[in-house]
Amino acid sequence: MKKFFGIIGNPIKHSLSPVLHNYWFKKYNIDADYSIIEATDKDLPDIVKKIREGNYTGINVTLPFKQRIIHNVDKVVNDAELTGSVNTVFLDNNKTLIGENTDVFGLQAAYLKEIENSSNKKALVIGAGGVSPSVILSIQKSGIKNISITNRTNEKCIFLKKKFKFLNIVSWPSLKSEIQNFDIIVNATSLGLKNGEDFSFNFSNTKKGAIYIDTIYNPLETKTLKYLKEEGKKVFNGLYMFIYQGQKSFYLWNKINPEIDDELIELLNSKLK
Ligand code: ATR
Repeated sequence: MKKFFGIIGNPIKHSLSPVLHNYWFKKYNIDADYSIIEATDKDLPDIVKKIREGNYTGINVTLPFKQRIIHNVDKVVNDAELTGSVNTVFLDNNKTLIGENTDVFGLQAAYLKEIENSSNKKALVIGAGGVSPSVILSIQKSGIKNISITNRTNEKCIFLKKKFKFLNIVSWPSLKSEIQNFDIIVNATSLGLKNGEDFSFNFSNTKKGAIYIDTIYNPLETKTLKYLKEEGKKVFNGLYMFIYQGQKSFYLWNKINPEIDDELIELLNSKLK
C-alpha cells in the first residue's frame, strides 16, 4: 500500500524536502509520496490525527512549528528533548506518536565531525531563532566547550541560556569586533537568504583559519560565505546539513539508510540555480 509523507511549515513552498525524499523513494523502490503541507496553527491537530490514523507515515516539521508541535505528540525523545525542537514525527510500534530531532545529527554529520582538536576551539552561533538550539547542541556534542551566542534581540539569547547554561552571550553591536576571537562561526540567522536582508558589515575581522558554516542553502553561497571563501577561509553552506537531517528522518521512517550519491547532489544543485 502506498505510503504518504510530508513537511509542514509556513512558508513552505520552496522546501527541497520533497525532492530529497522522493528521490530516495524512487531509488529504493518504495511506493510512497512526500509532499508539502502548508499549515497554520489550527491545522496541527488534524495533521497529527492523520499520522495516528496511518494516513501519513511520517512528517517533517519546519518553521514556525518545530517547538509548537511538541504539544501535539505523545513523546519527545533524544535530541528533540534536549533542544525542545522537533523536526521529525512518526508513530512507533506501540502506536506512540514520537517527536524526534534530526537537525542536530545533520550539522554534526555534515561538518562538525571534521573539526580537529575541538576541545580547544571557540565557537560562535549567530542567531537565536528556530534552528539555534539544534546548532548549539550539535556544537556541544562535537566536543567544543567554549560556545558563545549573539542575536539582534538579546532576550532570545538569555532565554536560550536557560536551557544551555554554558553559553556565553556576545552583544549584537560588538559582533563585528568580537568575531576575531572565534574558530568556528555558524550563521543561524536568516541574514543572507535569497531576496532577504544581509549582514551590514563584511566579516573582515575573522581569524585566520576560522571555519564558517552557514545554515542557509538558498542561495548556495550567501554574500558572507562568498566573501570568506575568497579570503581563503574554510566555508560550508547548509546543503549537507539539510541532506543529512533528511537522511536520518528517512531512516527513522523506513529503516533504510539512504545513500547520498552524486546524482542526488546534482539534482538538488539544479533546483537551487
Ligand atoms: P524566529 O526567530 O521568529 O523563530 P527564525 O527564522 O527562526 O525566526 O530566526 C530568524 C533569526 O534571524 C533570528 O535570530 C533573528 O533575529 P531576532 O531574534 O532579533 O529577530 C535573525 N534575524 C532576522 N532578520 C534579521 C536582521 N535584519 N538583523 C539581524 N538579525 C536578524
